[in-house]
Amino acid sequence: NRTLSDVLGRRELVMVSNRLPVDRVTAPDGSVSWRTSPGGLVTAVEPIVKELGCLWVGWAGIADAEIEPFSLESMQLAPVTLSADEIEEYYEGFSNGTLWPLYHDVIAQPEYHREWWETYRAVNRRFAERVAESAGEGAIVWVHDYQLQLVPEMIREMRPDLTIAFFLHIPFPPGSLFAQLPWRKPIVRGMLGADVVGFQRVQDAVNFRMAAERYLGAPALGNALRAADGRQVLAQEFPISIDAAAFEELGRLPRVRQRAREIRDELGDPETVMLGVDRLDYTKGIRHRLKAFEEMLADGDVSARDAVLVQVASPSRERVGAYQQLRDDVEVTVGRINGSYGAIGATPVVYLHQGYGREEMAALYLAADVLLVTPLRDGMNLVAKEYIAVRSDERGVLVLSEFAGAADELRDALLVNPHDIEGLKSTILRAVHMPAAEQERRMRALRSVITHYDVARWAEQFLGAVGTAAELRDAATEG
Ligand code: F6P
Repeated sequence: NRTLSDVLGRRELVMVSNRLPVDRVTAPDGSVSWRTSPGGLVTAVEPIVKELGCLWVGWAGIADAEIEPFSLESMQLAPVTLSADEIEEYYEGFSNGTLWPLYHDVIAQPEYHREWWETYRAVNRRFAERVAESAGEGAIVWVHDYQLQLVPEMIREMRPDLTIAFFLHIPFPPGSLFAQLPWRKPIVRGMLGADVVGFQRVQDAVNFRMAAERYLGAPALGNALRAADGRQVLAQEFPISIDAAAFEELGRLPRVRQRAREIRDELGDPETVMLGVDRLDYTKGIRHRLKAFEEMLADGDVSARDAVLVQVASPSRERVGAYQQLRDDVEVTVGRINGSYGAIGATPVVYLHQGYGREEMAALYLAADVLLVTPLRDGMNLVAKEYIAVRSDERGVLVLSEFAGAADELRDALLVNPHDIEGLKSTILRAVHMPAAEQERRMRALRSVITHYDVARWAEQFLGAVGTAAELRDAATEG
């Protein structure tokens, strides 16, 4: 197996994402600390940056903070400053009020505001400038996600010597939806500034290549596109994964196993523990999951004495209206379910609006007989992969939405359409009653997928393609 350093050879790598892997938090007494930031991007990218010890450019999660570059373990972190207005217009506005809902099948209504777009452009330029001044001659720059889609083209203009890679962690929408975006052309042009553009699923790559043909007249040649300046741009799927060995190791730690037993005990030792783990986001299908569970309680398919649903919903984008509405809906529903079907000593839904560290998560995964991953649309969903990695005991059942990118690979999960509440209920019941032998067979098959294709393989394949692009460019320059 090649290491990542073998793949990169002598080339330097610079990572760029909206968020750094840690957020700066200030306690009420004024003391400052760093906390792991939320989301799948950090789960996947952090082990790569730690292994390579490379530079990571991103925002530290707070307004107006001028923070000098610093190191954290082997990572070199370079914070980009955002003002309170920029957070409102670039992050909460254009990124999470326009692009996020548009790219997730308009589950919520996207808003199109010209001021948000202008700020998105200005902030993308700041990130590009920061990279242009930090990257060494001939480096590879790897730009991540929908918040920074204009950065590849901007960097190319500033530093033509760099090789540029872009990876979209969320879906790229079908043409009928992308067409709504007033700035569809500059967005596609921005991404085409990269040498390699990576997506989670085949369908995302297909959607992008069609958008590039339609809006820029860029002809597709298999998985590649020809940009206006004649460059070939590879636009292909590279499904993301996790550090499976690290999660498996966590799940084997005696203190984590002990904690899993404690969790079941503290839940009242029910027959079945079901678990949901999500950022509190309307794409995650939490409302659909709760509806199915409520009906199952009402129908007597499960009772509060023998089944508990633990829902971890980590706080996310709390100043965006659709997220506030979702929180209200979820909290009202949880209250209603517990009020109607609970009893003293039996709470059907344990709702935790908090984030947890990796060890506690691993213990929760071990404690859960069934994991419910029911998004209405999701780029990949790494929670599903974490659950599988932790379950070296080959027990537990994964209920997985067809609309998560992970469903393309994890065919031995119980696949569901979360919009179909009847189907969701019967699948959850099937999971609850699945015989041990079938659990083992399915879990073994799922584990072989993620142990073979872990985050190191993902990075190796993606950076392998980027390295080839860099060599071709070098050859062309020398020629
Ligand atoms: O890929 C989805 C994503 O936006 C990532 O960029 C990020 O890691 C995660 O979701 C968390 O979102 P936010 O940074 O808005 O809290």
